[in-house]
Amino acid sequence: MFRKIALTASALVLTAGMALAAGEETHIEDITFSFEGPFGKFDQFQLQRGLQVYTEVCAGCHGLKYVPMRTLSDEGGPGLPEDQVRAYAAQFSVTDRETGEDRDGLPTDNFPANENAGAPDLSMMAKARAGFHGPYGTGINQLFRGMGGPEYIYSLLTGYTGEEKEEFGSFFYGNTAFPGGWIAMAPPLSDDQVTYADGHPATVHHMAEDVSAFLMWAAEPKLMDRKHAGFVSVIFLIILSVLLYLTNKRLWAGVKGKKQHA
Ligand code: HEC
Repeated sequence: MFRKIALTASALVLTAGMALAAGEETHIEDITFSFEGPFGKFDQFQLQRGLQVYTEVCAGCHGLKYVPMRTLSDEGGPGLPEDQVRAYAAQFSVTDRETGEDRDGLPTDNFPANENAGAPDLSMMAKARAGFHGPYGTGINQLFRGMGGPEYIYSLLTGYTGEEKEEFGSFFYGNTAFPGGWIAMAPPLSDDQVTYADGHPATVHHMAEDVSAFLMWAAEPKLMDRKHAGFVSVIFLIILSVLLYLTNKRLWAGVKGKKQHA
């Protein structure tokens, strides 16, 4: 019996160790985002800056095809006024599904897809990648630090080593966050590439932070509602537990009381 347990345990440690070796020591920066923790909220202005970075830089290669543009005016999200959302959508030309004709984009359309550059769609990227895997590949630290999707994107954008290599006619760039260490995406950001309307500094660090937060919102726009609902249900359960405890005490008071005096 004990030997079985010991065997299973050592097999687990071995697999975890192998997973770690295969994953290599990628470096993920732990960023404190405003939306972390039970009371975390998206920072509206950060999301707006992230949208700008996405639009001006990333959209050249990456689509966001599952995200409806009307959500840009949602409360708790970037919160753009409706006329700005209309103007934002109108800059794209889309093929109408019903008429088959090209027209200006409407807020009810999704962000355009973009698969030309062989770049993956970013709609779900912040939830599709995990930044934290440890200890020993068990992922237990995700309980405390979260999945680390936005941290992964941040670390990817800031993790370029400056090395470059050509293999079979394609270029690869050294990156400390990408598994394997070489990514086919050239460093997309450089300092002051965008000019933020709110005067926020636009270093690679800040742009990476903002666009990662924006992609987290894109992947999970209802994050705040979910946290709120979770919080309310926990409070409800606590109150229910107290009431049930008191009911229980009262129901049994007679029986238990008798015993004591007997
Ligand atoms: C010039 C085109 C180009 C631009 C601009 C670009 N990317 Fe990429 N990106 C790529 C390609 C190509 C890949 C696939 C790389 C690979 O799999 O090796 C990729 C992959 C990614 C990945 C997925 C990495 C993974 O784990 O698979 C993320 C996240 C990403 N890009 C984010 C961004 C963000 C954010 C921006 C804007 C700041 C951006 N990219 C700008 C071309 C681009």
